[in-house]
Amino acid sequence: MNSPSRSGVFQAGADERMEAFGESISFDRRLYRHDVKGSIAHAEMLATVGLLSEEETRLICESLREIQLDLDEGKLPIRFELEDIHMHIEQALIDRIGDTGRKLHTARSRNDQVSTDIRMWVRDAIDKLDHQLKTLQTAFLSRCESDADVILPAYTHLQRAQPVLAPHYWLAYIEKFSRDRERLADCRRRVNRCSLGVAAVAGTTLPIDRQLTAEKLGFESVTANSLDTSSDRDFMMETAFVLSVIASHLSGWAEEWILWSTVEFNFIKLPQTFCTGSSIMPQKVNPDALELTRGKSAKVMGNLQTLMLLVKNLPMAYNRDLQEDKPPLFDSFDTIFAMLDIAAPIVAGSQLQRESIANRLEEGYLDATTLMEWMIKKGMPQRRAHHLVGAIVGEAMEKKVALKDLSLDALQKHAPELDESVYECLGTQNAVAAFVSYGSTAPDQVKAQVASWTTKLSS
Ligand code: ARG
Repeated sequence: MNSPSRSGVFQAGADERMEAFGESISFDRRLYRHDVKGSIAHAEMLATVGLLSEEETRLICESLREIQLDLDEGKLPIRFELEDIHMHIEQALIDRIGDTGRKLHTARSRNDQVSTDIRMWVRDAIDKLDHQLKTLQTAFLSRCESDADVILPAYTHLQRAQPVLAPHYWLAYIEKFSRDRERLADCRRRVNRCSLGVAAVAGTTLPIDRQLTAEKLGFESVTANSLDTSSDRDFMMETAFVLSVIASHLSGWAEEWILWSTVEFNFIKLPQTFCTGSSIMPQKVNPDALELTRGKSAKVMGNLQTLMLLVKNLPMAYNRDLQEDKPPLFDSFDTIFAMLDIAAPIVAGSQLQRESIANRLEEGYLDATTLMEWMIKKGMPQRRAHHLVGAIVGEAMEKKVALKDLSLDALQKHAPELDESVYECLGTQNAVAAFVSYGSTAPDQVKAQVASWTTKLSS
């Protein structure tokens, strides 16, 4: 059978190789619910403006619902000559109700149809993703409670830098995923505009009501320029960008916990249910879930590149290249969904290795900056204090002791103005307690942040 879009001007059917090359049904099939929904809203709008009778509309909508049920059960056969999900559904409608079915495509083209379907699909996917991100944030937040008293080294350049409370780490991840959720919400606003009714490229001479269709489909507004709309894939590129940032956050987290789970760090024990063994080394418990999270993030970022390159040289408006937008977008969502699915239970099920962390907490001079600031508080210029603490650390390194283990005599040799009270800021416990600035790891700051996130995440 020939494709409905080849009738009239064509005197020959398509080459089979062209059909196989040009099909998108194999990947756009997953839009079928959104396509049916869009078609029902379109038919109802056509009825309101008098382009379809009540009876025709009823028949079309009823049949579309039946077709959806068939699709749910995988009953609609796939035919490459029908190219995509839009034509499969329309053809099924025509097969069932004949000429009435042929009226559905009034004042519509597949260009606006596919754009509307994807917008609806992306809108749903964003909502699902937002929920998953919230679940992950909640997993980190629960840890804030259970790890409240643990102190960890914070690193810069992967060198021990300053001590922080473990919840400060968890709150850092909560903040990252919160910005991701903000970005998603913002990009959802631009996704949430209805393109249906711009038809192929210039609009239509028929008296349609685009606002009504948009309302029926739950869109916030309608797109303003038909040429722009037919060509617009910005909403997909920016969604793919937001997904790439999420992938980057997940990948960074995965990398950190892979390091933390090594014998060298021994900071965290991952749940065995998310680890794998080695076929030759019996002792191995490998962090494959985290490695795959790191690995799969590459694909998500690659998909963003694909979308950007796909669009960048296209003249207005719709070009068939745009059919290739869906696989990378779907893949990015699928990948992120899968990554988040395992991230939350890993976060919840991992255990900090408290003893091993505590045993080495005085290594690396995490309290050096606190000592410097203690001197600044006593009136010493920062540059001088920095220099003196550097020298003190040098001596402690030589003696292989922590700063708090140096005698007052030894300290005063470097800085005569130091007195006994300096020991109040030395040692990681004291160092953590000394922080005061907003956003720091100061215990009351951390407590306040945990309380604030508990309120935000419980709504
Ligand atoms: N299969 C096409 C796609 O996914 C649908 C739109 C086709 N439009 C057209 N004018 N050939 O983009």
